[in-house]
Amino acid sequence: MAEALQEQQAPTLPHEIDPREFDGPGFQRDPFPLYKRLRDHHPLFHDRFHNRWVLSRYWDIDGAFQDNASYDRAVYNPDGPYQFGSTHVFGPNILEYGNSPQHRWLRNIVAGQFVGNRLQVFLPMVAQICDEVIATLREAGEVELVSQFSSQVPIRVISNMLGLPREDEDAFVDWYQALIAGLGFGGEHLARGIQARNEMWDYLDPLIAARSKTPGDDLLSRIVSAELEGARMSPDEVKGFVALLLAAGGDTTDKAIANMWFHMMYTRPDQYADVQADPNLWDAVFTEMMRYDPVVHAQFRHTTREVELHGRVIPERAGIILYLGAGNRDERVFKDPDTFDIHRGDLHMGRENRSGRYKDGKPGHLGFGIGQHFCMGYAMARQEAMIACTKLMAAMGAPQPKFDSHPGISSPSIDSGGFRSPQELVLTFNPA
Ligand code: HEM
Repeated sequence: MAEALQEQQAPTLPHEIDPREFDGPGFQRDPFPLYKRLRDHHPLFHDRFHNRWVLSRYWDIDGAFQDNASYDRAVYNPDGPYQFGSTHVFGPNILEYGNSPQHRWLRNIVAGQFVGNRLQVFLPMVAQICDEVIATLREAGEVELVSQFSSQVPIRVISNMLGLPREDEDAFVDWYQALIAGLGFGGEHLARGIQARNEMWDYLDPLIAARSKTPGDDLLSRIVSAELEGARMSPDEVKGFVALLLAAGGDTTDKAIANMWFHMMYTRPDQYADVQADPNLWDAVFTEMMRYDPVVHAQFRHTTREVELHGRVIPERAGIILYLGAGNRDERVFKDPDTFDIHRGDLHMGRENRSGRYKDGKPGHLGFGIGQHFCMGYAMARQEAMIACTKLMAAMGAPQPKFDSHPGISSPSIDSGGFRSPQELVLTFNPA
């Protein structure tokens, strides 16, 4: 039935694009053919159906990310006559701010916690959580990686970073799942997400009060007591940030780990042999995964003034969608972009940076964004994914896929939030 609908919606001319293709199950599973038609024939596509403009080429996306004078992210005005963030499932959070001084302030007060020495302090705990989760799997001889491993580790890591009591970790996992589902479409999901957020906020209130009085060395203490230009985050901002961390830092890293394993099991089993020989190559698996089929495929902006691009004018206040997943496959930038290759020589393979400009002169992937809103957790996501994959491979005696074929990575169904990943991934193993 879904396939039949997709057939009916197929455009009559080879290069013509029917905007309803973006909503079909074909795009959810495999958006790359449409991305290519966009790049080749409609580098600036005016999607009148969804009322937005679509950018799909690498350098156009890079340009939009770097041009704060023409493109902004703000959803609405925090000084408006309403409670900022009240209808967002996370509450007031940095994602709703644009290029304003408030954004800069909020970013600067917390960004340092996720890089450098501050990050290093948390890494032994990440390794310990991985060991604990792996210990629950050893007996069975097989693991459904998504539900039993990748969705378990990052959320427990964040709960521990925040310094929450360990006995509350399972409640935290439940709130996380409801919050993520709340990002999906439909009032019912949003209502459940907001309910979970409110429960979590009630839970956090006394902890925030206690940590403000007597700070420890955990992330929650650091966030509540961090000061910049003489000001601290308000309790609502702290709670909004904690809720955001669950999705921005938990769900994304969860999907990154699952995608890395999927590519090693099914896309390049030959390169899995290389990774078994040298586990440090998980780092390259992470980078190439972030290019080839990144966890986050799209980011949204609006224009703050008229913008001329590809001989056309985008009006002021127009909605823009930047398809990172399309830019990463731009054949104007990467050779054989549809080939997953951890040894590729034309991609910056090391750690990303905010400017997207590297000493080796190679382009980086677009999967963490670029510029003012560049992902704050880029270093943490990489380190955590590396530790999780390396430990699982070592503990499980080089797991193998249980089934010969797999339906592949897809975007979540329209009625649930979240990012691209395999829905399930069953591995068998031989523990030493
Ligand atoms: C593989 C994992 C991850 C992916 C794919 C990812 C992706 C992204 C992307 C694409 C953006 C840019 C948003 C924009 O341009 O509007 C972003 C921003 C952000 N990310 Fe991540 N992220 C990941 C992990 C993390 C982690 C682990 C954390 C926290 C510990 C985190 C926290 C944030 C925050 C707070 C922002 C907003 C930054 C700002 O607006 O200044 N992310 N992320």
